[in-house]
Amino acid sequence: MLILGIETSCDETGIALYDSERGLLAHALHSQIAMHEEYGGVVPELASRDHIRRVLPLIRRVMRESGAAPEDLDAVAYTQGPGLAGALLVGTSVANALAFTLGIPAIGIHHLEGHLLSPLLASNPPRFPFVALLVSGGHTQLMRVAGVGEYELLGETVDDAAGEAFDKTAHLLGLGYPGGPALAQLAEAGRAGKYKLPRPMLERMHKTGNLDFSFSGLKTAVLLLVRKEAADAAAKADVAAEADAVARAGAAAGTDVAAGIDAAGKADIAASFQEAIVDVLVAKSLYALEQTGLDQLVVAGGVGANRRLRERLDRGAAEQGYAVFYPEYEFCTDNGAMIALAGALRLGAGAIGATSVVGASSLANVSEGTVGASLLANPTYAFTVKPRWDLAATGL
Ligand code: KG4
Ligand code: ZN
Repeated sequence: MLILGIETSCDETGIALYDSERGLLAHALHSQIAMHEEYGGVVPELASRDHIRRVLPLIRRVMRESGAAPEDLDAVAYTQGPGLAGALLVGTSVANALAFTLGIPAIGIHHLEGHLLSPLLASNPPRFPFVALLVSGGHTQLMRVAGVGEYELLGETVDDAAGEAFDKTAHLLGLGYPGGPALAQLAEAGRAGKYKLPRPMLERMHKTGNLDFSFSGLKTAVLLLVRKEAADAAAKADVAAEADAVARAGAAAGTDVAAGIDAAGKADIAASFQEAIVDVLVAKSLYALEQTGLDQLVVAGGVGANRRLRERLDRGAAEQGYAVFYPEYEFCTDNGAMIALAGALRLGAGAIGATSVVGASSLANVSEGTVGASLLANPTYAFTVKPRWDLAATGL
């Protein structure tokens, strides 16, 4: 079966063709980072308009590269949510129009399911069941994955997502958007042990068995640290008044607060922050393996590209006899390949409309409102997007 995958949930237009027997045939990605950079973050309206410009040319490109014709397609899989409504509508509209024209199913995929299954694209894929650590800009979750559509939530963030914490800290240090990779790069030159930052919800983990995360306290601790270091630096330069001004400006705008800190100082802060977040992610992931009795960990989502996280997870897992699986670097962040793969697995696994709901998870109801068995028999191609797609929002 040949499946076209379309991802337009945020600031990347990702297109891919996946063959259930031959694997990934072609994929293409257009990143809008340069466009959003001057605004310091994603501008939703601009994102939608850019997806419109890119989506069909990119589909033509992957078709040409793989030598496939539209008539060869068996289904079109698209990201139905969660994400930016306008951006999601672009991929959703194109996917349904294409499927309607060809008389094939259009399969709405949960963006996180795409991330979750993305390590299966690698040459050495994990086998079900496994524990998955999902760390993206919007989510931080630990899941027990028994099969396609069988996701049990083990723990999740109660406030900021890990990627969000990286991005906000990067912003505080005056780094550009997206902040995660820039902060990670700066951290390479810093001393991780220089500052002691909190490891939220870690101390009592073994007592409570709690696998939830919290990163907002860490964010506040970094803000206070940056303010203090900026004030100290200014005082050293004998401009104490400026120290106050720096602190006040930072408090008001949440930015430029680190202006007085030199490059080495910023690198130390970046490294100390990264180490704190990595400590928490590693400890909780290993504890999730212990709790579930599973021995494979899958890491997915943008923060999964973080080198230090990989280093520490690899070491920690090896010590305890676990195996860790990552998507290829290019499939860590948003892409069309993971959506095409998820579509193929849902079709091939016959799992459409058959998601088993275990625990409270934003992934637990991925099939609700998506293709459904009836759409295969009698396609209506009526479509909606789900900018917020989780259990609470659907009242389940
Ligand atoms: O999965 P993703 O591409 O998009 C979402 O679905 O959110 O993840 C993007 C997030 C951003 O917060 C970005 O800063 C972070 O992943 N990220 C990183 C790294 N690369 C991307 N965070 C830390 N270190 C990295 N190397
Ligand atoms: Zn993502």
